[in-house]
Amino acid sequence: MSLRLGDTAPDFTAETTEGRISFHAWIGDAWAILFSHPRDFTPVCTTELGYVARLKPEFDRRKVRPIGLSIDPVDSHKGWAADIKATQGQAPNFPIIADPERTVANLYGMIHPAHDEVYTVRTVFVIDPKKKIRLLITYPQTTGRNFDEILRVIDSLQLTDAHRVATPVNWKQGEDVIIVPAVSDEEAKAKFPKGWRALTPYLRLTPQPR
Ligand code: BEZ
Repeated sequence: MSLRLGDTAPDFTAETTEGRISFHAWIGDAWAILFSHPRDFTPVCTTELGYVARLKPEFDRRKVRPIGLSIDPVDSHKGWAADIKATQGQAPNFPIIADPERTVANLYGMIHPAHDEVYTVRTVFVIDPKKKIRLLITYPQTTGRNFDEILRVIDSLQLTDAHRVATPVNWKQGEDVIIVPAVSDEEAKAKFPKGWRALTPYLRLTPQPR
């Protein structure tokens, strides 16, 4: 059965470019982004891995650990890193899983046979410190992912876990947020001392809590 939001991310052990890992232990008390690539030495993946490497300070700030996967072996991943550094300005600074037997790919449903019977599609799993899946996105092989959007969703998840708010369309850090409908106006007065603008009784906007 396919994985869904709220499911526990399956645990596994695997070889990576940074040695053998047990996935849940590797995540520890951080968040994780597990993302698959069709294969090594391909152009779209090269741009994605370079971009994720350049985003490292942003991931660190949010306590997020990225980890890539492709079905090629570790030696191939390591050889590819030189091309990524040469063309994207930064080699991967996070582990990439080698999954030649497709063990992890099958566990996470990363092969979509009607799209490609052999290689993984571009999946993204955001996993929280309790090892629950909080975001799932699947892209076709020919479309590079938008990792800024993935960071934006993590910002929303971390904010909405901490406060009784939701984030509106295209929300970004620092913009107003929505007080969830389950919070009464009476409770909102205590929780949101800066007040709110009610566009309707159920759409109440308030400054982003810190
Ligand atoms: C790529 O990463 O560039 C790619 C992989 C598979 C199919 C098409 C493009």
